[in-house]
This record gives sequence, structure tokens and C-alpha cells, in this order.
Amino acid sequence: MELELRINGVIKSLDVAANESLLTSLRQAGYYSVKHGCETGECGACTVLIDGVPRPGCVTFTAQVGGCTLTTVESLGNARKLHPLQEAFIDTGAIQCGFCTPGMVLSAYALLKGNSSPTEEEVRDAISGNLCRCTGYVKPVQAVLRAAAVMRGETVAPISLPSSNTPNMALPTRTRAAHPVEAQATIPLHNPKTPLLAALPP
Ligand code: FES
Ligand code: FES
Repeated sequence: MELELRINGVIKSLDVAANESLLTSLRQAGYYSVKHGCETGECGACTVLIDGVPRPGCVTFTAQVGGCTLTTVESLGNARKLHPLQEAFIDTGAIQCGFCTPGMVLSAYALLKGNSSPTEEEVRDAISGNLCRCTGYVKPVQAVLRAAAVMRGETVAPISLPSSNTPNMALPTRTRAAHPVEAQATIPLHNPKTPLLAALPP
């Protein structure tokens, strides 16, 4: 069936199967920020904004959203000009593997559209549908609060990365005794003067 959708501000005509998920349709159309995760509506990796509301694309039929306005992370910024949310995620170290990040950024974007000064609890609630197995959520929450401040026009303090001179980041001094395997590594496998066969039982 033919459908017209407004995706990231551009009207697109898609030819989709009646049972095709929005996740599949968007990825086939080249919107690779929409990630393929659990496919059961639980992880949030496939989050898309449908008329401004975060929804899991994997459990949404494309046929259901004909005529809707869709937003993916591709529309928020680009490599030359990132959105404040994207910058804040980078600055605070809120990205590790990055698989959850597009969905999380979209959920945060939807939150900040309607609430420019969210509390930490509101941020946690907004991204609660986006599971992250890497970060423990502390950094993403900091990132959203930081982006909110930037978007309100406030000056935020630069974040300095720890240097190798910082005492607790310095490489540990090696004081432990050598592990037996390491110690053995210095022992020749056999005495070159002793024929190997001599060590075998008769
Ligand atoms: S892939 Fe859609 S919620 Fe996990
Ligand atoms: S950064 Fe890896 S799942 Fe969130």
C-alpha cells in the first residue's frame, strides 16, 4: 500500500506491506538512527517521534501512521552543527556503545519541547522507556539537564576530562608479585643442551 508521511520535514511516499513495522520501513528508507533492538516495545532503541510523541517503531505498523509527522534523530543536527542535546551527551560522556542514544535523545527532545526546566525526576521519567545497558543513566540524566540549561540560554561550566596527572586516574604502580604464569615465561621450555626425547618415559 502507498502511504504519505512527513519524515523530518520532508513528505515521503512509501510503499509498505500492511503488516510492516515502522522500524522496518524507516530503516529501509535509510533512517538508520532508528535501531533494531528487542522488537517487543521494551527497549526503546527504535524510538521515533510520531506527531511529537515518542513511540516504539517496532510495535507500530507503518500503515497506522499514514499522514503523521515523524521525527528521527537525523533531523536534530548534523556533524557540523549538533543539537544541544547531542553536544551535551558527548560532553558529559553519556554515550558508551551508543545503541540507546538516538532513542534516548529523541525522548529527551520531546520532554524539553514541552518543559524547558525539567527536574531530575522528570528527566528520569522521560527516558524511562529507553533502556541503556552501559551508562547506568547518571550521565544521560546529567546530559539532558545540561542541554536544558543551554537551551534556556544559561552558561554552563565546561567539563574537563580527567588528565593522566589526576591522582586517582594515574596508572597503578606495579607492586604485586609476578603471577606464576608470568614467572614461568622467563624459564626456557627445555634446556637446549638436553635432548627433548630424554625427558620422555621409556
Ligand atoms: S526494538 Fe523497539 S522497543 Fe526494542
Ligand atoms: S550507551 Fe550502550 S546501551 Fe546505552
